[in-house]
Amino acid sequence: MVESLEDLAERLRRIPNLHADGGKVDALLRTHAIDPAALAPYVRYEDGRYTRNCVYRNGIFELLVLCWAPGARSPIHDHGGNRCWLVPQTGAFTIDDYLRIEGGRRPGPVRLEQCAAAPLELGDVDARGFDDLHDIHAVHVDRPSISLHVYAAPIGRYLVYDWQHGSCDARSFAAQDVLDYVI
Ligand SMILES: [Fe+2]
Repeated sequence: MVESLEDLAERLRRIPNLHADGGKVDALLRTHAIDPAALAPYVRYEDGRYTRNCVYRNGIFELLVLCWAPGARSPIHDHGGNRCWLVPQTGAFTIDDYLRIEGGRRPGPVRLEQCAAAPLELGDVDARGFDDLHDIHAVHVDRPSISLHVYAAPIGRYLVYDWQHGSCDARSFAAQDVLDYVI
């Protein structure tokens, strides 16, 4: 158990080659649960949406708390060529994975194939590679959910995918505290 998210950020900072050594990030997140009280400064809800709340960011990684309104869903997205980890803090999530069948490396037409959906609950850690596509769905519709995310490196430009219209578009995050949209 770590007392604060700043403590977790410091532990991440101490991993010598964090970007290349994802196994150490995975181990750290699995063995250092967050005190729920430590989340409080970063909890911010918006009706029908999810919010991104930055705890720490440098050139190597960023640590964020995402706060999900009941039933909120992310768009299908990539991670701009970066690794990511998702750790549920409250609530539960479903992650749907997708494969690029045609296009999808730059804005324009794309054809995706949906893979199996995976549940993600308290105690789980979801680790993603540089090239993965997915969407995330907060399962509970009667209460909000919270997830902790590590991105290495920080996400700047990334792609979102419109399944129905077969297209993808570029998006970008600012340095911190960006409100994302939800379908
Ligand atoms: Fe993601």
